[in-house]
Amino acid sequence: MFFRYYVFFFKATPNTIVFLLSKNFLPRKELNTLKDYFGYKDLTCVVTGAASGMGKAATEMLVDLGAKVYALDMNEANIPGIAGFVKVNLSDKASIDAAFEKLPERIDKFFGIAGLSGVKTDYWTTVTVNFIANKYMTETYLTKRVPSGGSIAFITSTGGLNWEKYQWEYKKLLNANGWEGMVSELHKLAPQDGYGAFAYIISKRCMNAYVARNFSRFAEKNIRMNFLMPASTNTGMKAEFSKLVGSDANLIKQAGLAGRLAESKEMAEPLVFLNSDMASYITGYGMIVDYGDTTLKVIKEKKDLQNLPVGFKIYHTKLVKKLIQAYIDKG
Ligand SMILES: NC(=O)c1ccc[n+]([C@@H]2O[C@H](COP(=O)([O-])OP(=O)(O)OC[C@H]3O[C@@H](n4cnc5c(N)ncnc54)[C@H](O)[C@@H]3O)[C@@H](O)[C@H]2O)c1
Repeated sequence: MFFRYYVFFFKATPNTIVFLLSKNFLPRKELNTLKDYFGYKDLTCVVTGAASGMGKAATEMLVDLGAKVYALDMNEANIPGIAGFVKVNLSDKASIDAAFEKLPERIDKFFGIAGLSGVKTDYWTTVTVNFIANKYMTETYLTKRVPSGGSIAFITSTGGLNWEKYQWEYKKLLNANGWEGMVSELHKLAPQDGYGAFAYIISKRCMNAYVARNFSRFAEKNIRMNFLMPASTNTGMKAEFSKLVGSDANLIKQAGLAGRLAESKEMAEPLVFLNSDMASYITGYGMIVDYGDTTLKVIKEKKDLQNLPVGFKIYHTKLVKKLIQAYIDKG
């Protein structure tokens, strides 16, 4: 039994010694053996998008929790304590294959976080990074390298909500086999200079649908797979989303009750939870992290402006692109 009574000597004034007796103060030994509820210690974690925003925040947390973290990004991720940085371009199959050659054979926890807004990159690149790369890495490498008891979590987006209603738009892309098969379906879906904001939405809907339709295959092997849908967050991508909706003020207005954007760590924390021992009975789940905004839409207190098809070819014509842009510029 631990001896819980401590006597403190506390110098209140130069002449007075105050004795404090405390029942609740934990002995040093107990402090050092606090239970590791998350269970990341010494596990191999791979994080994509680790150089910035949510990926960087998640990597820092995992290092703090004692994991061996491999940080993947096209930009250098200088994060103290990581096991290694691996440069990768997720829009390029050969680059992904080369990156996985440098990664360990066993990956306990995979965090697919990297992504593009579609504002600065073309339609094909946006969908390739946000969807094709994640599906390719999962089917080619994670099926073999994540062991029983491991888990996989992706960051998608609230922009990918309503995915279940519009599967008819993207099901050929979703179901295509292999990198080349997916690229070929993508090219049939939209031109390279198609409307970027819709590339974002369709790619995120594809990822949500992918997890929903495939988590059971992994569950059979005792591997969990979930996705997290963030609302607007103050990351490297913020300026691009502000441009898309006309201004910073509009972005904050759309954020709803929070009255502010989320910070990167407010997305990294629930994601790290989803892939941890704390979530051992959670799989196939899409966690919405939006300060209640989607719930307001469900109870019809807020209009869901994204409940629309985004795959029509007409969206990519010059005229429609111009009309959409004019509508956005009007604020
Ligand atoms: N910021 C938001 O408002 C918001 C909202 C919902 C979802 N998301 C999603 O969150 C995820 C993380 O983004 P973030 O907001 O932290 O933005 P961010 O721009 O700060 O980070 C994205 C990271 O992905 C990396 N990346 C992009 N293209 C890559 C490529 N081809 N190869 C390798 N790495 C690449 C970037 O270098 C960057 O480090 C993305 O999937 C994004 O779509 C963001």
